[in-house]
Amino acid sequence: MNSQIFSPSYPKSRMRRLRKSDFILRMLTENNLSTNNLIFPLFVIEGNRIKEQVSSMPGIYVYSIDEILYMAEKCIELGIPTIALFPVVNPELKTNNGIESINADGLIPRTVIEIKKHFPELGIMTDVALDPYTIHGQDGILDNNGYVLNDETITMLTKQSLLHASVGVDIVAPSDMMDGRIGVIRQELESNQYKNTIIMAYSAKYSSSFYGPFRDAIRSTNNLKKGNKNSYQMNPSNIDEAIREAAADITEGADMLIVKPGMPYLDVLAKIKEKFRMPTFAYQVSGEYSMIKAASLNGWIRNDEIILESLICFRRAGADGILTYFALEAAELLIKSK
Ligand code: PBG
Repeated sequence: MNSQIFSPSYPKSRMRRLRKSDFILRMLTENNLSTNNLIFPLFVIEGNRIKEQVSSMPGIYVYSIDEILYMAEKCIELGIPTIALFPVVNPELKTNNGIESINADGLIPRTVIEIKKHFPELGIMTDVALDPYTIHGQDGILDNNGYVLNDETITMLTKQSLLHASVGVDIVAPSDMMDGRIGVIRQELESNQYKNTIIMAYSAKYSSSFYGPFRDAIRSTNNLKKGNKNSYQMNPSNIDEAIREAAADITEGADMLIVKPGMPYLDVLAKIKEKFRMPTFAYQVSGEYSMIKAASLNGWIRNDEIILESLICFRRAGADGILTYFALEAAELLIKSK
């Protein structure tokens, strides 16, 4: 068989010349991963000296504030610029409207103040959403039929954002998918002197079963019961809609965008990055972490290689950075490989 029929340039061109050895592979690496690209999500709970493993996320823990400080320090040592905080709220404080989310003396404000006191240089990002605080586990306020009310929810999210900004949060990240919330939050931040608070909008957030272990971690699985979030999070089959969501958030005043989940949605990430050229982040969510971890703990895949491969794929697809539960492990691997 004449291979020239299929590859007219062969043998003048042999792609494998450029893969023959380490020096040339390194010279031609198109994308890089650095610890600067990583955001580490951390779960915080009330109490002292608590470090409890999330059962569906081996290696990931829920920490009390005193223990979170060690993790914050670790991130700084490893060169991870930012952490993302998620509260595990005492069940007794959960209500229908999630009012605890705007308690100035609540868990998140106290955690932020404590971290900033010790480590002012560490970037802190907080989730703006009601689900950790509601009895029903939904991200908003419900009407009598159980429908999540958009505008009433925004009022609460805006107060939550202002509270977070007031205690020194650097990046507020609305993860609720209500319509118009970025605009209202931006306007209120502006008129309350929080002009430099960054908004990282979960623009394309899909209604995904990959969030399962996260809901275990923040203990909202039992609240949500058999419910779903299809009336506000996006349908996994859609991509045009993701572009419209991103466009809306940008117009309303978002500084950065998130696509979530991560690996199954790289096409969405790539499209949004290409179209808007905004700082765009991927969230490699809990279920993705758990799948990789479970397989590696079983010896079915190579843990370190898969972590780094999955993260470089986000960079190749256009992510400026990645929120990932692998941030610590990845940073250690990156430092070791230097
Ligand atoms: C809450 C929120 C969720 C995640 C981040 N913020 C869960 C959800 O929408 O139900 C998921 C993160 C993960 O799975 O790692 N609004």
